[in-house]
Amino acid sequence: MSDEIIRVENLTFEYPDTAVLKDVSFTLHRGDFLGIIGANGTGKSTLIKIILGLLKPDSGKIRLFGGELSRARSRVGYVSQKANSFNAGFPTTVGEVVRANLFSKKGLFRRYTKADDARVLEALELVGMSEYKNKPIGALSGGQQQRVFIARALAAEPELLLMDEPTVGIDAASVSEIMEIIKRLNSDGMTIIMTNHDTPALLDAANKLLIFCEHGYEEFVNKADLSFERIADILAGKRVHRHG
Ligand SMILES: Nc1ncnc2c1ncn2[C@@H]1O[C@H](COP(=O)(O)OP(=O)(O)O)[C@@H](O)[C@H]1O
Ligand SMILES: [Mg+2]
Repeated sequence: MSDEIIRVENLTFEYPDTAVLKDVSFTLHRGDFLGIIGANGTGKSTLIKIILGLLKPDSGKIRLFGGELSRARSRVGYVSQKANSFNAGFPTTVGEVVRANLFSKKGLFRRYTKADDARVLEALELVGMSEYKNKPIGALSGGQQQRVFIARALAAEPELLLMDEPTVGIDAASVSEIMEIIKRLNSDGMTIIMTNHDTPALLDAANKLLIFCEHGYEEFVNKADLSFERIADILAGKRVHRHG
């Protein structure tokens, strides 16, 4: 299918002394929003790292845009958990933080152009931070800094955006602003994969869910097929039944 973004088949992964992912499969198409939920230690970040190509699965395979992972890197964006806050004296500007992510597309020794500046500004506008372009990143609140990091990912114009608990450690008001931004990007056609152990906002935004629990059980569902009671049961480790 031409609008297939990612296909994961029978993915299994263990660290030397911990089995983490067992036989995980799912497929996303353009515009899907996958929420990965589950308690700490159930393998959410491990799955993100495998999709990013930072860890190699023991078995199973991943296709991105119908091809190999290594050929898709420039089409995938990533936003991590909020980095340790920059302190107020940190000299790099907001615009420089965003612009640095254009390196991946330009190669190291090319100069920045006016078009690059326009792209930086556009990315900052998408997260409502354009008026902060020349401010030091350290002068911003944690929530504002995280919005800048979303803009940084957006500057490279990804088709698939991976976010690993992007709102951890951010105040509640900023969390809902950030979720609104992500929902808007999604309704404009960006495919999103997002993890969160704090689930209500994610349940609201996602149309598909991958649910991990302590026993390594996982389930891939369309959100509409799943009641909140059943989600609670799965998170509590009660096996229900497995979807393909
Ligand atoms: N680098 C590592 N080496 C060994 N074990 C790890 C490593 N990273 C994570 N783990 C273990 O793998 C399991 C899953 O971790 P992780 O994917 O980070 O879970 P989550 O993101 O859901 O909290 C945990 O038991 C964790 O302790
Ligand atoms: Mg994690």
